[in-house]
Amino acid sequence: MAWKTLDDMDFAGKRALVRVDINVPVEDGVVTDTTRIERIIPTVDDIQEKGGKVILMAHFGRPKGQVVPEMSLEHIAPAVADVLGLPVTWVNSDYGDAVAKMEGDEVLLLENLRFNPGEEKNDAGFAKRLASLGDIYVNDAFSAAHRAHASTEAIARLLPACAGRLMAEELSALDKALGTPKRPVVAVVGGAKVSTKLDLLGNLVGKVDHLVIGGGMANTFLAAQGINVGKSLCEHDLAETAREILGKAKAAGCEIILPRDIVVARAFKAGADSETLAPDACPADAMILDAGPATVDYISGVLDNAETLVWNGPLGAFEIAPFDAATNAAAAKAAALSTAGKLISVAGGGDTVAALNQAGAADDFTYISTAGGAFLEWMEGKELPGVAALSR
Ligand code: 3PG
Repeated sequence: MAWKTLDDMDFAGKRALVRVDINVPVEDGVVTDTTRIERIIPTVDDIQEKGGKVILMAHFGRPKGQVVPEMSLEHIAPAVADVLGLPVTWVNSDYGDAVAKMEGDEVLLLENLRFNPGEEKNDAGFAKRLASLGDIYVNDAFSAAHRAHASTEAIARLLPACAGRLMAEELSALDKALGTPKRPVVAVVGGAKVSTKLDLLGNLVGKVDHLVIGGGMANTFLAAQGINVGKSLCEHDLAETAREILGKAKAAGCEIILPRDIVVARAFKAGADSETLAPDACPADAMILDAGPATVDYISGVLDNAETLVWNGPLGAFEIAPFDAATNAAAAKAAALSTAGKLISVAGGGDTVAALNQAGAADDFTYISTAGGAFLEWMEGKELPGVAALSR
């Protein structure tokens, strides 16, 4: 799939409508993580350096077509100005007037697009209204590209369109991880439930050489093989599906790596007494909360021989020590190999980035995606409408 980038467009004297994802975490009115805002800096700077004016379009939360004052981008605008180091004007109406009055390096930030019901309906009329504000459409929101919305899909057909720097960077990193990767490829997939990652697992077994399954999901796979998992989180009703995935992996020559030892406890709380046991030795009154050191050793050996790693989801209950040990150790190993230039490592998904940050490993990964849901859909092998629209 090919798409235009900022280098293909002439921004001199033009107004660029830039779709960004600044759906950032906010607590008590304060933005607690500005990563997504930081990552749009290259695009904004580049357009301005090329003589263009920047109008940012974004969503925040899920207001479902209603005006929800707490979800106004007015609250985020100061953080955007701060991070960009530019004057940012938030506009909630009279868009055309504000655009006409833009001065110098002023950046406009339009009100939360999802306040308008047309946004999520991918409404042609709403897209037209947005398109009338600019000359060129730039999509820099890979993390919203799994939504076919007016600002991610319909608008791309109304103006000359291209990918921003972040979008281009995400697509190139993801292509290196699963599109045209150097082999062997290892995928680490963790998280609580198999049910949320069925499509993803089904797609990966046909694409990667080794698939590490961790977290609560691993319990479902152990149970599907007749192993008693005690009180562990486990989707017993998915045993048949888990067996199908194991069969599909075998047929495709993909090694599925399940815990080779387990860390169990009787309470799900920080510092709870725990013991490391064989996978089939979970006591009836205990739960599996992490993979053990033998599992980490085995994963480390696989990573030593791998060229590419794609990571989504923690290996254990990483929010609570000591059940973060396997995630931390495997992440540290991947980080060290990446720093040494021996591994291309790509990670994404909300919890994943939190876990890798907590492990102190995120900075050393080759690429950390800003995307949550879009990363998952990409791992599922689905076409992302926001990306497809750019390649028309
Ligand atoms: C995200 O936070 O993953 C993106 O901003 C998309 O948000 P959505 O899931 O509400 O579409």
